[in-house]
Amino acid sequence: MMSELLLGLSLGVLAILFLIYQQRNSTKKQAVRFTSLASERSNFENLLAEAQKREAALSVILESMTEGVIAVNRGKKVVLLNSGAERIFGVSKKMFLNRNLIEIVRNTRIDEMVSQAIQNRSRLAGEISIAFPKTQVLSANAIGISMDQQDISGILIVRDVTDIKRLEHVRQDFVANVSHELKTPLTSIKGFIETLLEGALRDRERSESFLKMMDEDASRLERLINDLLELSQIESREITLKLEAVDIGLEIEKIVLGFQNQIKKKRLTVHNHIMKTAIPQIKADRDKMKQIFINLIDNAIKFNRDDGSLSIKAQKLNGSLIEISIEDTGIGISKNNIPRIFERFYRVDKARSRELGGTGLGLSIAKHLAEVHGGKISCESNFGKSSQFTVVLPIFKT
Ligand SMILES: Nc1ncnc2c1ncn2[C@@H]1O[C@H](COP(=O)(O)OP(=O)(O)OP(=O)(O)O)[C@@H](O)[C@H]1O
Ligand SMILES: [Mg+2]
Repeated sequence: MMSELLLGLSLGVLAILFLIYQQRNSTKKQAVRFTSLASERSNFENLLAEAQKREAALSVILESMTEGVIAVNRGKKVVLLNSGAERIFGVSKKMFLNRNLIEIVRNTRIDEMVSQAIQNRSRLAGEISIAFPKTQVLSANAIGISMDQQDISGILIVRDVTDIKRLEHVRQDFVANVSHELKTPLTSIKGFIETLLEGALRDRERSESFLKMMDEDASRLERLINDLLELSQIESREITLKLEAVDIGLEIEKIVLGFQNQIKKKRLTVHNHIMKTAIPQIKADRDKMKQIFINLIDNAIKFNRDDGSLSIKAQKLNGSLIEISIEDTGIGISKNNIPRIFERFYRVDKARSRELGGTGLGLSIAKHLAEVHGGKISCESNFGKSSQFTVVLPIFKT
């Protein structure tokens, strides 16, 4: 009986011990589970912070790009648009998110490019001219995303290449123009030589007049080549300036004297107001500076009307710069031509300028010479009435 009781007791103790053990074990398991949950949570937080950091970095990169980037979904609705795209297409992010791509790009070629890229999951590139918000040439890339990620099916990347295209055109025009300008007098000289060889040589009077014309053509070729050499020298910044203090009023007075014949022929009146103004001396290479004003005064006379006038003024802009202006009463220059007249060979009326002996290099030489002095040239005009060219040059400081 006693032994039965003892057995029962020990079994009871064993059961309690087992229960305690089980309890302990499950608390331990729970504790382990809690710890792993906490570490999972901190891992998750780390991942989130990492993703947020990565997103912030991507957004900084996207916003600082000069290229325009637009991401669209399968229905070509805009889901992302960076500041580059805002600038190029003249739109604002707030207003255009979730709108159709065509409403932003306002160009069917770009819209179609993106559609095709999405459809074929391919990459398309092209150069496209757009008219809104202003005329621009864009280099466009449309990329179809192979697996829709974050609802993005296509990306459009555009770069404004308007300036590069314009420079390319200028260079092409330059080569074409040089060849043409060289060819014209050469063809004429060859023509005269042929006529002389065919017998005109024996006619003294005719041959003399032919030689005079050949001399004119040869001088034109020489002038053209000299201008081109000078221009390329200034442009490559190979020239060394002999900087000194120059009295601008006096130098302009001498230049005007050199043009007396042309001035008389057109019965022009020249007012050199600088002579009566107290203007400090400028810091310049005398000959190069004179070349700027020779070119400007030559134009102001050539493109003036008979009985017209020329007004030359100067004023201090600040402690270090002087502004010299030459105003004529000539044919004027239309607004759309003003930005182009400083280009090499650009002439508003080619035939008229050539007739007057011009090559169209005068203003581009003047512009570059002003720039190597640390100055600049600008032009304003009242079309049909007058033109005013303004040169800014540095003051000589002792
Ligand atoms: N004062 C002016 N009034 C009206 N048009 C002008 C004036 N100055 C320049 N232009 C226009 O700008 C063009 C370019 O001028 P630029 O001096 O470079 O060439 P050019 O005078 O024709 O030839 P070059 O100077 O080589 O003899 C001229 O052909 C003319 O159409
Ligand atoms: Mg000229």
